[in-house]
Amino acid sequence: TTLAPGIHRGLAGVVVDATGISTVIQESNSLTYRGYPVQDLAARRSFEEVAYLLWHGELPDPAQLADFRSRERALRPLDRTTAEVLARLPETCHPMDVLRTAVSFFGAEDPTEEDGSPAAHRTKSLNLLAKLPTVVAADQRRRRGLPPVPPDPALGYAENFFHMCFGAVPDPEVVRCFEISLVLYAEHGFNASTFTARVVTSTLSDLYSAVTAAIGALKGPLHGGANEAVMHMLTEIGDPARAPEWLAAALAEKRKIMGFGHRVYKDGDSRVPIMQHALDSLVARGAHPETARLAALHAALREAMLDHKGIHPNLDYPAGLAYHLMGFDTPVFTPLFVMSRITGWTAHITEQLAHNALIRPLASYTGPGQRAVPAVTG
Ligand code: SDX
Repeated sequence: TTLAPGIHRGLAGVVVDATGISTVIQESNSLTYRGYPVQDLAARRSFEEVAYLLWHGELPDPAQLADFRSRERALRPLDRTTAEVLARLPETCHPMDVLRTAVSFFGAEDPTEEDGSPAAHRTKSLNLLAKLPTVVAADQRRRRGLPPVPPDPALGYAENFFHMCFGAVPDPEVVRCFEISLVLYAEHGFNASTFTARVVTSTLSDLYSAVTAAIGALKGPLHGGANEAVMHMLTEIGDPARAPEWLAAALAEKRKIMGFGHRVYKDGDSRVPIMQHALDSLVARGAHPETARLAALHAALREAMLDHKGIHPNLDYPAGLAYHLMGFDTPVFTPLFVMSRITGWTAHITEQLAHNALIRPLASYTGPGQRAVPAVTG
């Protein structure tokens, strides 16, 4: 359909509200969270500190961090009812469906669900931050036929997640790579899932409804689902030497190449160099038997995409392979994105409420003109 002038499909380029949470500084192409460059946060701060920063607007001092950490650790365990509800989901359903169900269930059993005060939001947000990893880890083990490993309050957020997934904490360098991915995935302005959370919040609905909706939006392969799709694509291609021909055929079929392109970044996603560097350190460890082949394929496809289309990779491209090398099952990759983005989503939910305006755009009508309803015959 030819569009009337003034229509911005996909809201491309449309500024719909103000935010103080993050921005991409165009001149330096660098993403900042509350003014701090994300590459510095990823290099020097823990994911817990970045979560605190996104929620409170400032980095925590040592006392604030100690209090935040102890409250987060205490909230990790799932109650028996939740564990039973999630254990009844079919093992064939997608892990994003498990997360969506878990958040919806947390809301259903929260007697303060309708309380939208900043203090109530902070309590709910911290509870989700603490519990989502326990849900994701238990689900990955369930699909492997293994019993859940309870959270360990003596471990930090990232270490504890590996402990719950694999019953062990890997080398600190591997944990650090994971933590870097969490910092990079945490927040990114009005992306589709965050905007979804803001739309739901703008009607004064509750935080769990907004997060459940955001999980639904993130699941799609044009958005968060891309990191899982990257791994499926690398598996499909297999041989690094096949990358150029595979890409030419895929582009000829007008396929979207997962992990490439971005609505906002047209000269490369500012987060990619940091995640690529973390991926390179995992590759150098050679932890995975096919590591060298996958790294060569990953590089070959990136070069071919740049040569063919001049399109740069986005964060999902290095993150997908990195998660594979860390030992996570492919369908869990987007749930890892949720574990991080719950911080950005909930910061935006609180910000939307602070100066709310119902989000309700217009449409240009292209249907039939007004006409009379024919009399019923016979
Ligand atoms: C995330 O918004 C965010 O910030 C999201 C995110 C976050 O942190 O929240 O950064 C996370 O979602 C990253 C994106 C993950 N998605 C993918 O990797 C899926 C593959 N990417 C494409 O679908 C696409 O690049 C989008 C959806 C990400 C962006 O698409 P746009 O801005 O709508 O651009 P477009 O689809 O209009 O593409 C412009 C042109 C088109 O060519 P023409 O039709 O004009 O000839 O570039 C082509 C597209 O075909 N193109 C691609 C491509 N990306 C763009 N062609 C092949 N493969 C691609 N990946």
